[in-house]
Amino acid sequence: MAKTMEPKSSIGQKMSELTEKVQASQAWNSIFRPGSVFRKGYTDSPRNRSYVVMNSVLYHLHPVKVKRHAVKVSYTLCLGGLSFFLFILLTVTGIFLMFFYRPTAAQAWDDMYALQASVTFGLLVRNMHRWAAHLMVLAVFLHMARVFYHGAYKPPREFNWVIGVILLTLTLLLSFTGYLLPWDQLALWAVTVGTNMMGFTPVFGDQVRFVLLGGQEIGTDTLLRWYVLHVLFVPFVTVIFLAIHFWRVRKDGGISGPL
Ligand code: HEM
Repeated sequence: MAKTMEPKSSIGQKMSELTEKVQASQAWNSIFRPGSVFRKGYTDSPRNRSYVVMNSVLYHLHPVKVKRHAVKVSYTLCLGGLSFFLFILLTVTGIFLMFFYRPTAAQAWDDMYALQASVTFGLLVRNMHRWAAHLMVLAVFLHMARVFYHGAYKPPREFNWVIGVILLTLTLLLSFTGYLLPWDQLALWAVTVGTNMMGFTPVFGDQVRFVLLGGQEIGTDTLLRWYVLHVLFVPFVTVIFLAIHFWRVRKDGGISGPL
């Protein structure tokens, strides 16, 4: 005997009852904040529109209204955005590399070699990481030059310029700490020269050199130290300063423009 089909209207009714139940639940309302179109009884009112902006982290970064000149690619050349994109790309490719790399003097070079020779896409991802690192230094520098050219370092943006200088330093530190990790002759001697130069820091020279080397001379302790700096400490500090940088762009009235 064939089952009798339930009338369509009854299925529709059950669906809307279920929707209402879900929308009234605490879990749903904890995810979709006031002003969200997904909340029960949403109306397109000015109040709800401002709620959307206030409650969304993305709309905080990218406001609903922007000045006309600010969306022109020819003004910023998207160099800040490009720097950020490269940072994300470096994070993703860097995590991939971490699966195959052990930071000890005995294993580091062999791991890098094996990564290129026998890991699927290993060589590609390693080269993407390396090129993105070079490009990020270039992009950040050009971004700084663009900001300078437009006089965007002037009030009220002078604090963000200072944050920018810190970001430039962190970008250079990320590059330099990554340099040692392949543990080849180039890396070894580059870091030996670098740490010797840092040894000439006034007053604390010897101490600075000792801390950076994890001993009197370059060795496996240095590698571990620079590895932790490269994959954890410097990226962590960079993310904090990036958040402040983007937040300041908004709070300083968006991108600068012609007077
Ligand atoms: C990791 C490095 C950096 C990233 C990811 C970054 C990202 C950004 C982004 C996305 C913007 C929005 C407008 C644009 O794209 O130009 C911006 C604006 C700005 N950045 Fe950076 N930035 C970095 C480094 C720097 C440096 C080195 C400086 C200067 C020393 C700087 C100073 C500024 C200033 C003053 C603004 C406001 C520009 C304006 O209003 O026209 N930033 N940054």
